[in-house]
Amino acid sequence: MPMTYKHDVLIIGGGAAGLSLALRIADQCSVAIISKGPSKDGSTYFAQGGMSAVLSEHDSFKSHIEDTLRVGGALSDRETVEFTVKHGPENIRWMQELGVPFSSDIFKSGKQLHLTREGGHSHRRVVHAADATGKAMSDTLENHARQHHNITLCEHHLAVDLITTEKQGYTDTENRCIGAYIFNKNNNHVETFQARHVVLATGGASKVYLYTSNPDGSTGDGIAMAWRAGCSVSNMEFNQFHPTCLYHPEAKSFLISEAIRGEGGKLLLPDGKQFMRKFDERGELAPRDIVARAIDHEMKRLGASCLYLDISHRSPAFIASHFPTIHKRCLKYGIDITKEPIPIVPAAHYTCGGINTDLKGRTDINNLYAIGETAHTGLHGSNRMASNSLLECLVFAQSAAKDISSQLDKTHKFPKISNWDESRVTDSDEDVVISHNWDELRRFMWDYVGIVRTNKRLERAMHRASLLQQEINDYYSNFRISNDLIELRNLTLVAELIIRSAMIRKESRGLHYSLDYPEADDASIAKNTVLKPEHKSIKEKIKIIK
Ligand code: FAD
Ligand code: SIN
Repeated sequence: MPMTYKHDVLIIGGGAAGLSLALRIADQCSVAIISKGPSKDGSTYFAQGGMSAVLSEHDSFKSHIEDTLRVGGALSDRETVEFTVKHGPENIRWMQELGVPFSSDIFKSGKQLHLTREGGHSHRRVVHAADATGKAMSDTLENHARQHHNITLCEHHLAVDLITTEKQGYTDTENRCIGAYIFNKNNNHVETFQARHVVLATGGASKVYLYTSNPDGSTGDGIAMAWRAGCSVSNMEFNQFHPTCLYHPEAKSFLISEAIRGEGGKLLLPDGKQFMRKFDERGELAPRDIVARAIDHEMKRLGASCLYLDISHRSPAFIASHFPTIHKRCLKYGIDITKEPIPIVPAAHYTCGGINTDLKGRTDINNLYAIGETAHTGLHGSNRMASNSLLECLVFAQSAAKDISSQLDKTHKFPKISNWDESRVTDSDEDVVISHNWDELRRFMWDYVGIVRTNKRLERAMHRASLLQQEINDYYSNFRISNDLIELRNLTLVAELIIRSAMIRKESRGLHYSLDYPEADDASIAKNTVLKPEHKSIKEKIKIIK
């Protein structure tokens, strides 16, 4: 008999966003944190460069706000940017109090934090723990969560869909989220998790592309679940490609931090020449969209399989203390970064669009919140500035926690929810369909919806995404679910949302670049691409787009 669990707050996602929200609220109520794999399976654990916050006396909120707005290409929301930037320093202090071992500046007295620099930032303002900031944050936050008597960590649990009063047939109340169906991978049962408040903190969707810096679980599940439940999403066409991932046949998804360029790293062509100033006067520290496009352009022009990043002019001691993780990992592949350039290629890195929320993390559905990379808060606009993501995770976890605690009513009875129905499905005998479709999806998204797009490529991609969706939905209706099927179903839906959004944007802006519309349309006011679920059939959707 499948189990039913009841908590005050259900948080789907155990990265920076989910863990910090849990810690901020757990003294008042019971919390369950769900993660697909072992904890630390999200992008947070792999974050390198750091978290941006105004901490230097030479810096100011105004400067951080203006930098973020400029990089966001007229689509960042000023109120959101101001709100986020102004809450940065207190969140760094909160993490220091919890014990996150941020690097200090050896040249300054009193254990002042070392601040590094990354693209788009006009000041040093990136707080970091050497080049493994995400690990330091995850380890500390998770240790606190494990010790808290009100927090239950449910690892190897996969959320399948949200439960709303509307879907359960309650017509007497305004629609609200009351829990989620969760596939417990430890026993292969779909269990019911009821909650007064549900938070999506599920990370991004960069796994939709063949090459990515992200871990395997970045499959856009939160965006897909929220969409199916009736939430709107925005700006899904803005997929950030990180300019520098390690190019080596055995290195899967290993990032070479932008902080290397912040500390003087040079981008080189195969003949050893620097080239970035041809594309932007800020050179190596231009925002990511410009650097990734420049690399893509030069690779295609020269037919090169990679370009190079060189930090070997800095002393070996400096490199070993600032970039120990990257140094060690490259050595493992026979590359000594203190002596030679690092082979690099761009790869999908960050999902700027997502579930629409307000400043409290509230979505279109009552009692449902979205925070972290899965959300669209308006901070990033058409391009995220480096190290602003961890900042957004922390700040919105804090504001959502505050809102939830002001709404929490523990006397309210949990409504009755029907159990997951498996009576009409059987075990699949064709798992190969799933692995084949995974490959196909990620490859055509890379080829047709990547760094440079055209109308024709988008049409091709839409056609394939629609066919895949049909096939996967049939499969989903007939066979018992598995981790790969659920992720593929979500990723295919997210792919469709990306392609639809890219088709709507008839200009180039930020991370969306189209050869058919190479300029930004500055004559009209820059607009977000907002999609609302219509619950139409795929055939109808294609007709609308055509
Ligand atoms: P994540 O940390 O990705 O966590 C998502 C969680 O949700 C996971 O626990 C996962 O298991 C869970 N989950 C997802 N779907 C389901 C489901 N269906 N059921 C159950 N659980 C689910 N940003 C910066 O600001 N600074 C940096 O230096 C930086 N470096 C980066 C380096 C790398 C290599 C990468 C990949 C990203 C980097 N980023 C950086 C981006 C940043 O790390 C992420 O945007 C951020 O950590 C996202 O945090 P999150 O809590 O939203 O999600
Ligand atoms: C990096 O260290 O280059 C990643 C920083 C980020 O994605 O914000």
